[in-house]
Amino acid sequence: MQCGRRRSRRVGDMTSFVGGNVGSWRVLRVDPVIGVPLAWISRLEVTEGQAQPPPGTWVLRGVTAFDRYVTPAERSLLEARQEILGRQSATSAALIPIRKSAAWWDLPPDERRAIFEERSHHIRTGIEYLPAVARRLYHSRELGEPFDFLTWFEYFPDHAAAFEELVERLRSTEEWRYVEREVDVRLAWDPPIPATARVPR
Ligand code: HEM
Repeated sequence: MQCGRRRSRRVGDMTSFVGGNVGSWRVLRVDPVIGVPLAWISRLEVTEGQAQPPPGTWVLRGVTAFDRYVTPAERSLLEARQEILGRQSATSAALIPIRKSAAWWDLPPDERRAIFEERSHHIRTGIEYLPAVARRLYHSRELGEPFDFLTWFEYFPDHAAAFEELVERLRSTEEWRYVEREVDVRLAWDPPIPATARVPR
């Protein structure tokens, strides 16, 4: 559980995002960006591990995985700048589930990498926003889920405009022409027991 013990993430660890009317994250908006929307929810809970997630209006599941596209040089840059999730004052968050088209998955891996980074500069752009934004990518496609990826970001409330700019920059790239479903869920940390501590993860 989000409010449970501290543990480090390993490849293959399952995380469930449960949208409903309970949870430590209060929902600010659920915006359909492209494709089929998600139902409105007022609260979101993040549940880690294989435990049965609490019931909700919808549940999205993903697992952490090895990077597909990152070069060793990019990994060094990311590791030098990236922050952990669960920082006390990073009380704004975004859950952005994304599905890419069959045309994307039909491309050879080298061409996907070329679109993703050489032509769309996804990593180069994203790094500009670290360490204010902390991120984690979950893979869902292999689980037969409705989205291919669940992207999760935590940032400081005064960084909201910069995060908006980042999202707009990425959405204007060639990579995003292959996005056929995307929903943008924005959240504020607001646990039912206000003293509940954030758990670094
Ligand atoms: C905060 C700055 C960001 C950084 C540093 C960043 C970095 C990365 C990196 C390194 C990967 C590649 C993982 C791999 O090799 O498998 C990746 C993948 C991805 N990111 Fe970002 N990202 C950022 C922001 C975003 C945002 C704001 C979105 C959504 C609006 C997003 C959506 C995705 C998606 C969907 C993938 C998977 C792409 C695929 O495998 O086809 N990222 N990101």
